[in-house]
Parts: sequence; structure tokens; C-alpha cells
Amino acid sequence: MNWEETIQFIRKDPAYANLVEKTYFDEDLVLNIERFRKSKELEETIQLFKKYAPHGKKILDIGCGNGISSIAFALLGYQVDAVEPDASTTVGAGAIRLMKAHYQLENIKVYESFAEDISFPSNAFDIVYIRQAMHHANDLTKFIGEAGRVLKPGGILCTIRDHVVFDKEDKEWFLENHPLHKFYGGENAFSPSEYKEAMIKANLKVDLELKYFDSIINYFPKTKQQIEFIQSRKNLVNKIPNLFHFLLPQRIKKYTTQLDEKKVPGRMYSYIATKNNA
Ligand SMILES: C[S@@+](CC[C@H](N)C(=O)[O-])C[C@H]1O[C@@H](n2cnc3c(N)ncnc32)[C@H](O)[C@@H]1O
Repeated sequence: MNWEETIQFIRKDPAYANLVEKTYFDEDLVLNIERFRKSKELEETIQLFKKYAPHGKKILDIGCGNGISSIAFALLGYQVDAVEPDASTTVGAGAIRLMKAHYQLENIKVYESFAEDISFPSNAFDIVYIRQAMHHANDLTKFIGEAGRVLKPGGILCTIRDHVVFDKEDKEWFLENHPLHKFYGGENAFSPSEYKEAMIKANLKVDLELKYFDSIINYFPKTKQQIEFIQSRKNLVNKIPNLFHFLLPQRIKKYTTQLDEKKVPGRMYSYIATKNNA
């Protein structure tokens, strides 16, 4: 199965209904966009744009799939160029064109290309945004190199929710546990150093690394409340000297081992990196 067939298959199987909803892969393309527009992830992402690229207007969205983010940004008034290699009308560029027409948007252009092959002029964008696509790079250095090249000096690269792995075994564990890899075989992940080295090579300065539990951008569909509750319980338990931990009931003791990103297969990270002036 290819990616489009995989998504069409899981849409029909009720066992995947929650996954389809939380990954914005419903057959109803408008529903996906409206869900994403209301998400905490989008809210936090816009806060990052306001902080790191306060005057940013021109966004290049790379690997934008069915266009949830590209359309959301265009509806917020940004000038968007959307790049997606898959032509599909349900998970790719075709879907974005349908949504552009549905929302009657003039401020979005759609291109079919891999990130490694984009032909935009250099120094053209305020923000290059890449959601869950950097880890699919065929050539990570070239992928990020092109993102860096098309950014204006002082512009930002914003990568969102990319899988990270720490070694070979960790990567195998991630691939075994990924719910869709068994269908389409296209999953991948890099280490945090590989992502950051590619950014530095592309003349970018890494300003922010959001690890898995640092932001709802990464840990959604878990909620902020759930994470804060566990953290507060963990803090309480950690105040009790280890010597007495055996006295604690198991349901309390379990908090000490929670919020450990190593226990989450292929946990996601997000990055902000600024293009150097020289
Ligand atoms: C998990 S989907 C994410 C789609 C969308 N950004 C989102 O968050 O819903 C990954 C996307 O990256 C695209 N992709 C894969 N390899 C790519 C590459 N080398 N350059 C650009 N996009 C790529 C795929 O076609 C797919 O649409």
C-alpha cells in the first residue's frame, strides 16, 4: 500500500477512528482543517511565529500533506506557498487545491515537489514551516539546506513534530511500534543531533529545541492538564526520600517513572532556527 491507500484503508476501519481524527486525516477535508484551526498546537505555533518572526508574512509550508496548516495560515492572512510531492486529492496537493477553492483563498499557491528539489528564489520567505515532514527527508542535509536557502536573513525555520531516535535499537523499536509503518513502510526518524547539524550546515542558528514533554505541539493528543497533573504528582513523590518509597502504594509510586520521553517510541521534537545574516 502507498500512503494514500493506507489512509483510505484506516478511514474505513473503526479501530483507527481516533487516530484518523487526531491526525487530521478524515475524508472530510474541511473537518480536518476546522479541527486543526481550533487546536492548541496551532495556537502555540502562532505564538512562536509572533515571538521569533514578529513581522513574518510570507510562509513556505513544505511537505504539507492535505493542507491543514497551509490553509489555516492562509485563513489567518499569511501569504502561503504550499509544497507537497504527493498529488493525491485526499492526502496531498490535490486536496489543498480543493480546499483553496472551498475557502476561496487568493493568498495561497500550491506546488508539487520534494523539499530537496524546490526552485524558489533564495532569500524569499520570512518563515519556512515544516510539519511532520522533515523526518521523511530523502537527503536531510539537502532538505534543510533548501529550507535555509529560501529563507530571508533573519527569517525562521519552524519544524514541528518530527520523530527523533537516539540509536539504532531505538529506531527499530519506533518502527515496530508505529501504527501505520506496517502498511506503507515509509516511516523514518533522525537523531536530534542530525537535525541540528543539518540546520547549522544550512547557515541557521538553532534558537529553540522543544523536546517531547516541553510542549503540547509535540505531545498532543495528550492534554496540558494531563501532563501537568502527572508532573505535580511526580514532584510530590520526589520530595519523599527514596528510603520510604517502598511504603507508597503502586498507583502513587508509578508517577516517578512517568514523563520519560525514552519510553515513548519515536517521540516528537520541534525546532525554531533563524537564518544568519551573513
Ligand atoms: C506525515 S505527512 C505530514 C503532512 C502535513 N505536513 C501534516 O502535518 O498533516 C508527511 C508529508 O511529507 C511529505 N514528504 C515526504 N517526503 C518529502 C520530501 N522529501 N519533501 C517534502 N515532502 C515530503 C509526504 O508526501 C507527506 O505528505
